Amino acid sequence: MPVKCVPLSLFRTLMNPGFHPFRSGLFCAGLYRRAARRCHTLAQGGRQHPKRQTLYYLPMNINSGLLEELNKLTSGMKMNIKIKSSLLLPFFSLVATLSPLHAADTQPLPQQRTQFVNNELWPDDKGVHINAHGGGVLYHGGAYYWFGEHKVAGDAGNKAQVGVHCYRSTDLYNWTDAGIALPVSADPASDIVQGSIIERPKVIYNAATKKFVMWFHLEMKGRGYSAARAAVAVADQPAGPYTYLRSFRANAGVWPQNVTDTDKIPDKKNLLQRDFEGGQMSRDMTLFVDEDGKAYHITSAEDNRTLHIHELSADYLGYSGRYSRIFPGDSNEAPAICKYKGRYWMITSGCSGWAPNTARSAVADSIWGPWKKLPNPCTGGEAVNGVGYNKTWGGQSTFILPVSGKEGAFIALFDVWRPKDAIDGRYIWLPIQFGPDGVQIPWQDTWDLSSFK
Ligand code: GAL
Repeated sequence: MPVKCVPLSLFRTLMNPGFHPFRSGLFCAGLYRRAARRCHTLAQGGRQHPKRQTLYYLPMNINSGLLEELNKLTSGMKMNIKIKSSLLLPFFSLVATLSPLHAADTQPLPQQRTQFVNNELWPDDKGVHINAHGGGVLYHGGAYYWFGEHKVAGDAGNKAQVGVHCYRSTDLYNWTDAGIALPVSADPASDIVQGSIIERPKVIYNAATKKFVMWFHLEMKGRGYSAARAAVAVADQPAGPYTYLRSFRANAGVWPQNVTDTDKIPDKKNLLQRDFEGGQMSRDMTLFVDEDGKAYHITSAEDNRTLHIHELSADYLGYSGRYSRIFPGDSNEAPAICKYKGRYWMITSGCSGWAPNTARSAVADSIWGPWKKLPNPCTGGEAVNGVGYNKTWGGQSTFILPVSGKEGAFIALFDVWRPKDAIDGRYIWLPIQFGPDGVQIPWQDTWDLSSFK
């Protein structure tokens, strides 16, 4: 059988999503160990060569987003491609051998981290920037699980090309890639088909059913942000795999418990009434489990103008039918919540898409309110990302993470979005300081958990 070597440029053409015959071929990346392993992880499947540890066969169904990432990952490497086959399509078997430019095959894995480094690349156990944007963290069985939007390069990364990524850690600084917990679907009829929008995934554990329940913001492929649905998936293990269940508008045909008679009057400005029958909108969102085991879905509704807090059903897979509107007309997004000393604390942002704006905070003695508005909790860091604290250092809130075993220790998580090259988005994690009248989140380039007393 002839063996031909083809130049890198041709390899890239072959791997191009538009070049169909080869997309059904096998792609195995070898010798460059970390890249090979990373390709394998990204591909969510395939198998290792039985004898050569650095050689992986990747699955046949590689999608265009993944191809883009593989291309990015392998750019800059010296590469020889051997095509072992006759010209009989589709029986081509494509074998790629990646060789390191600087003996990187034996390159040590990233050093153990002992602090948080904000706004920089945050390498996982393989040295790849953590890909879990708009995320949330679950603590279960002695480990933390960080779930987030897996982004790809370029603006294609603003849509779901791969799925929800999960990482695991026991110290919060060092994260092991636990793979794609919920992959996008190749089925055009699926809600979560590749090219849909999957944002702000959050996972909670239901102690009664022993299931891990993921909720996320879903937008249907090709329909912009008009669907404004919540979606639910479920798993038996924290890192998944998650089984997608369904998506919906919230609490169709149910009025919130704090509805007024005026709210019920049909009027084109009355968005609660507009969405009463079909269900309330749900875009930016988070989940919260209270000490009594009741869980809540807090979400931007009514064209992002009003937050809704929905109580979940006992199995966390749907709603109980009880919900409330908070801050009507104040346009809050990116809600994140925690409970400290019996009070509920919330951080939100205003509505300016991927662009940063001023963070907000609020406090309440009951999750149902009344909620008291508090000012921007962010302080210091005058020129981080050229904007500083008054624009959340270029970031937007996504979650408040309680540190296990440390009373009063909560970390505020923010995303610095990079919509032109979504995969390059950064993370800002900062400790929250609670005072009698409010919360403060002072900027720090680096810090560690010893700052919690
Ligand atoms: C932001 C929102 C993100 C994403 C983005 C799209 O306001 O927080 O999750 O939806 O808009 O423009």
